[in-house]
Amino acid sequence: MLEIKNLTVKLNQAKIVEDVSISIQRGEIVSIIGESGSGKSVTALSILKLLPEKMKVSGKIKIDGKDILQLPEKKFNKSIRWKTVAIIFQDPASYLNPLIKVGEQISEAIIFHEKKKYQTKEKVLHLLKEVQIKNTEPIFNAYPHQLSGGQKQRVLIAMALACNPRFLIADEPTTALDKKTEKNILNTLKTIAKKRKTGILFISHDIEAVSMISNKLHIMYAGYLLESGNTDEILKTPFHPYTKGLINCIPKVEGKGKRKLPVIPGNVPDIHSRPSGCPFHPRCLKAKNLCRKKFPDMKTFNRRDVRCFFPEY
Ligand SMILES: Nc1ncnc2c1ncn2[C@@H]1O[C@H](COP(=O)(O)OP(=O)(O)OP(=O)(O)O)[C@@H](O)[C@H]1O
Ligand SMILES: [Mg+2]
Repeated sequence: MLEIKNLTVKLNQAKIVEDVSISIQRGEIVSIIGESGSGKSVTALSILKLLPEKMKVSGKIKIDGKDILQLPEKKFNKSIRWKTVAIIFQDPASYLNPLIKVGEQISEAIIFHEKKKYQTKEKVLHLLKEVQIKNTEPIFNAYPHQLSGGQKQRVLIAMALACNPRFLIADEPTTALDKKTEKNILNTLKTIAKKRKTGILFISHDIEAVSMISNKLHIMYAGYLLESGNTDEILKTPFHPYTKGLINCIPKVEGKGKRKLPVIPGNVPDIHSRPSGCPFHPRCLKAKNLCRKKFPDMKTFNRRDVRCFFPEY
């Protein structure tokens, strides 16, 4: 199990992420959804200790009970990155070298991380097949610019799987893709979780995508989790006014191309000037005096964790 426990990330005096707790079992897909700037990527990067040094991380990140944040950098790099936890990002183009054929790039990852020198082509072709690339040989020999957006993202997923990680973090892996390609990639991730028993942390702006892919959902706002629980139950009966707002704002007509999270009037507060009390109170139609003064703790109501003084359930 991968457990994030009371994770807090500070930049000078500002808290970018605070008191975030998420656990992911092997074979399970857990989603985080939130508006731009809510701290999703900072949370993801902190798991792999990839944040800039100026950001200070506290809390625990445990894998099968062992706190990996305590590992020295050398050991962390050798045993955790790629081998235990791998990450795929939103923009595949910027993570592929345009001058090297994709097959070679995946081979290089295997050779580098597994210290292998031979038999990698066979393994790469197998990985490409696993991520549902049909013509594996031509793709192996192609340069990144010859691939479609969906194919590039599949190549990055194949690369992330190269060292057989137990957990995969997918930070908005489908935001840049059209809907049909997105659906196919989500199905590929689901198959990976099931067949390899990989635990996946799926980060998204898109309610439809998280409803398709995950069994657990966390709603993130201004660095905090506001609601956590079973995905279907949250989407059917949201308890937090923020979650309710997000779901009510989903447009009835499906748009094309890049989709953003539906818009609730107002903005996510700036990390350097968070409001007092509940971080959502300035945008909350139900806010009362208490919400302006006191910060709400996460409380459990009917198997749901909610950070609100007045949840509706
Ligand atoms: N390297 C950095 N230096 C300073 N501030 C940063 C840095 N990276 C992120 N932040 C700040 O941390 C906050 C959270 O950013 P983060 O990238 O985690 O948001 P996000 O939820 O992933 O947004 P998006 O949906 O746009 O990807 C933002 O206010 C952002 O400006
Ligand atoms: Mg992000």
